[in-house]
Amino acid sequence: MKQNIIVLLCFAICYLSCKDQSKTSNSVIENRGVISKSAMVVSARGEASKIGVEILKQGGNAFDAMMATEMALAVCYPYAGNLGGGGFLVYRMADGTKGALDYREKSPLASSKNMYLDEDGNVIKNLSTIGSMAVGVPGTIAGIFEAQKRFGKLDVASILKPVIELAQNGYKITEKQERRIASYDSLITAVNEKEILYNKKLKAGQTLINTALAKTLQRIADNGRDEFYTGETAKQLIDYLQSKGSIITLEDLAKYEAKWRDPISFQYDDLTITSMSPPSSGGICLNQIMTMVEPFDLEDYGHNSLRTIQVLVEAEKRAYADRSFYLGDPDFVDIPIETLTSDMYLQERMKEFSFQAPTPVDSISHGKIIAYESNETTHYSIVDQFGNAIAVTTTLNGGYGSKLYVEELGFFLNNEMDDFSSKPGEPNYYGLIGAEANSIAPEKRMLSSMTPTIVEKDGEFYMSVGTPGGSTIITSVLQTILNVHEFKMTMQEAVNAHRFHNQWLPDEIRMEPNSFDKSLVKQLQNLGYNINEERSPIIGIVDGILMQEDGTLEGGADKRGDDTAVGF
Ligand code: GLY
Repeated sequence: MKQNIIVLLCFAICYLSCKDQSKTSNSVIENRGVISKSAMVVSARGEASKIGVEILKQGGNAFDAMMATEMALAVCYPYAGNLGGGGFLVYRMADGTKGALDYREKSPLASSKNMYLDEDGNVIKNLSTIGSMAVGVPGTIAGIFEAQKRFGKLDVASILKPVIELAQNGYKITEKQERRIASYDSLITAVNEKEILYNKKLKAGQTLINTALAKTLQRIADNGRDEFYTGETAKQLIDYLQSKGSIITLEDLAKYEAKWRDPISFQYDDLTITSMSPPSSGGICLNQIMTMVEPFDLEDYGHNSLRTIQVLVEAEKRAYADRSFYLGDPDFVDIPIETLTSDMYLQERMKEFSFQAPTPVDSISHGKIIAYESNETTHYSIVDQFGNAIAVTTTLNGGYGSKLYVEELGFFLNNEMDDFSSKPGEPNYYGLIGAEANSIAPEKRMLSSMTPTIVEKDGEFYMSVGTPGGSTIITSVLQTILNVHEFKMTMQEAVNAHRFHNQWLPDEIRMEPNSFDKSLVKQLQNLGYNINEERSPIIGIVDGILMQEDGTLEGGADKRGDDTAVGF
């Protein structure tokens, strides 16, 4: 009885506080994520989202908040947040102007096409994934400074102040973080030849302080972008890298530039979708898939129904086959973007589609390919109080990148060189095949799948969305947009929904385990589809912001991670 009264009391308190919250500008209501009136940041960590919002409240805009959020992720989410990696930004200004910034890593000047092959022409195991030879020239600092310089309002020192305090005062290790660090511990220790700050002794709830990173960030706050590319930090970084056998030089750092790109923009029903252009494959593939599925009545078929899955999978298969053959760094290869995204070409691609049976993968040209990308990246979305919206995806590639940790500077270095095809035309270490368009060359950017995306409806901002997940990024973004648009979900429901993925090769539909109805799986198998529910415990960790009909913002923060939406 006493217990029942306590339970009832708890319910009453919870009900009242939830009711009360729903009236506030930063609340959670049933099936919806956090709601806010003016502005929002959704990222992989609450600390980073809060710092982003703090900068907005100081009068900063989305680009100031980008710098703060990205650096805060480097502090408290070192798994993917970074100074030693790269990323992509897609933006929409309040006046409707759109654009994209490429701060992807680059191949070093001393790199060469066959650098990961032995004298017999075989791929040398681990060389492109672990340790100093795996590292590409980092672009993150150049990217956040370029965006902030062009569009930001605040001074860099004010933006970085709360981030430096976070590194100095520490943040709490989460349970997910504890598990992740523990599972990477032996590899990180082996690569660094000693235990580093991030090690298996760290327990959830413990406060982690990174003094070295605080000092690095303070020098960057004092001296600006060049501190990282030509200053003291650059010298320390290159000394360290070269002591580990890297071919990256001071000249590589000094030559690094972030590049403004024209994003990919296309229509789907009454939506205008704007996403990242090459060297990411994200925008082109999303454009191809959505154009191929547009003639089908997905809303009528239903969310994750047999027919919806068939249509999406078959379109995905064709887009990923093209991706593999045609896409690479646009400064090095000619990409027939217009043809690849034209209605006529895509109708032709879907000509053989049938609900009766899968189209065999070997009947789908082009290429014999799919480049490997790992799952560990991170995405954040920001809408500011001025009406500007950004979508940013940033990465070290693998979890903790190359595992190489620069102790003096307090950050990990990427292993982005593995996103190139080490041996075009033949399977790489991961059993996957790469293409000539994505072969290694000095100063070339490696092909990515990152798909930071902005959606407009009737010419107004509607959604900012993106996710980590390597090659599954594109299909996770696709499903999230369709969940909102076709299946009328809230942003949070769209993010929560179970996901599946097809990438042409291997010839299988990956599904999140224990998520799809067994009879549906059986029906797909009976039609001839290979189902793999083991490979990916989760597919994507999507973060997004949706403009609701009443003009408020809804955040969708994926609970597959520690992701958090904060707004005001
Ligand atoms: N490294 C993951 C990607 O760029 O897609």
